Amino acid sequence: MCGIVGYVGKSQAAPILLDGLAKLEYRGYDSAGIAVYDGEHLVGKKAMGRLKVLSEMTHDGASMPGYVGIGHTRWATHGAPTDNNAHPHFNEDETIAVVHNGIIENYLKLKKKLLDKGYRFQSDTDTEVVAHLLDYYYKGDPLEAITKVMHRVDGSYALGIIFADQPQYVYAVRKDSPLIVGKGQDGNLIASDVPAVLKYTRDVCFIENQEIARLSEREIDFFNVDGEPIEKEYKTIEWDVNAAEKGGYEHFMLKEMYEQPKTVRDTLSPRLKDNQIEIEELGLTDEEIRAISRIRIVACGSAYHTGVTAKYVYEGMARIPVEVDLASEFRYRNPILDEKELVIIISQSGETADSLAALREAKARGNMTLGIVNVVGSSIAREADKVMYTWAGPEIAVATTKAYSAQLIAHYLLALKFSTVRGTITEEELAGYITDLKRLPEQIELLLNNKERIQRFANRYVSAKDVFFIGRGIDYAISLEGSLKLKEISYIHSEAYAAGELKHGTISLIEDGTLVSAVVTQEDLYKKTISNIVEVRTRGAFVMAVTNEGNTEIEKAADYVIYIPQTNKYFTNSLAIIPLQLFGYYVAVGKGCDVDKPRNLAKSVTVE
Ligand code: F6R
Repeated sequence: MCGIVGYVGKSQAAPILLDGLAKLEYRGYDSAGIAVYDGEHLVGKKAMGRLKVLSEMTHDGASMPGYVGIGHTRWATHGAPTDNNAHPHFNEDETIAVVHNGIIENYLKLKKKLLDKGYRFQSDTDTEVVAHLLDYYYKGDPLEAITKVMHRVDGSYALGIIFADQPQYVYAVRKDSPLIVGKGQDGNLIASDVPAVLKYTRDVCFIENQEIARLSEREIDFFNVDGEPIEKEYKTIEWDVNAAEKGGYEHFMLKEMYEQPKTVRDTLSPRLKDNQIEIEELGLTDEEIRAISRIRIVACGSAYHTGVTAKYVYEGMARIPVEVDLASEFRYRNPILDEKELVIIISQSGETADSLAALREAKARGNMTLGIVNVVGSSIAREADKVMYTWAGPEIAVATTKAYSAQLIAHYLLALKFSTVRGTITEEELAGYITDLKRLPEQIELLLNNKERIQRFANRYVSAKDVFFIGRGIDYAISLEGSLKLKEISYIHSEAYAAGELKHGTISLIEDGTLVSAVVTQEDLYKKTISNIVEVRTRGAFVMAVTNEGNTEIEKAADYVIYIPQTNKYFTNSLAIIPLQLFGYYVAVGKGCDVDKPRNLAKSVTVE
């Protein structure tokens, strides 16, 4: 996620901005930039790549004089990671500088209006719209211009703004993207997160949604969205820098699990318009969607697991046949592809070597390819014919959680879009699905809040030798991911089985006390899976079941039950995976494993 820093005070701004940005590096970024007021003009410097490049370019900031400035580390969303797309962005005569974290959802509409009024754009970003819109509304009163812009833009934003004709101030605004103010001795600061200001102050104030802060060297004033003054309280930060980077969470993995409600919301909301699914970037005509003969999903690891879930969703809902392939297998087996087959490549990093090779293979055969990708401008995003981004933000923990959840949402949206166009669901059914989708973030939050109960249970299994995960249909797909989460970070052997398959061999491994996790969310399969639970239990297994609220019958068969809130049968994975992620996490923590960096694993697997 992007990082913002701003400073106004007695010291030279640029070195402070670079130092602050360095403290935000953990958030992930692909380019960086700063703008300072040098006494006459706003001057910007931007560079793709690591912050080091920007530091070298500016001699650690020394070659950029001035006492007021804003800085940014960009994690590309709209527009590839290039110098041009890096922030700050300016209005045309470079009298207003803006840094932004978040997504302006209606930027295309606003951009068109501004283009019609003669504004010219330098970048592909949504942020530049804000700079020009500020210019459009600015008549000498920054607060007035800012509030007008706040009323026009939809989406999420944290903004740092400087006006060249009022260089004594830095302005900060936020909606659904974090931003704090730090009250220093020699000057005041804004930042996306506390670590960026801790060197200068421990007195911070958290800007709330739709609030504006105006900072000068000595004063900080706050205003509401109507420009009226408001009072705010400061807090003294007691944590150390390391804890602050993780937002107070013990590990990035836990932090990222907690970001899942937001990730789901961010991936959903730009595509839900007036109770319809609109995936602008898909660029497939209704005719092309109707012509799809088959969907082939190709991916690795957890991304592959979302594909296994998606097979049930596309087939069940849109009645399109689906094949799911492991990318490492697909590329070497001379697959038979129908020319009307849509090939979907799923990848968080967009750089996984096997997935990239599979994409190239499908393209070489003339098939239409669609990338579901998290990292903007990554190889898969660049090379796929169409791209649908998951807005999960940077994922730092090696074991994926929030990107996995975002990938599921991308599949649900595509399945709903395809189903609507192909007429396999009614308008009424669509409305029901959309209602269920919108409830997911809250429901995920509820499950996360239940973490202590799962932690207590997990602590009993830190010395487990083997764990089995079983389920049928979509529940099998959830089990694949639950099993991977546990084994990759806790180093406990685990396997996922289609529940009916266990007795064809593997059941011989069940001993007294062996833990079996059974996922039971598909109502039409309850009875079948319960029979499999009974089979393993009579052989000594201890069964933990994850099931829907209301399915209390299961308590007769399972030893320990975790209930998930009600949703429709296609979306249960998004909920059932939460307790399984927490279980894997707490077993690993209990064993003292390096949760964020498990042995032998890399975040982005760029080798075969
Ligand atoms: C597991 C995990 C991996 C990735 C896999 C694909 O927690 O993170 O299994 O899902 O390596 O990576 P991407 O999605 O970057 O292609």
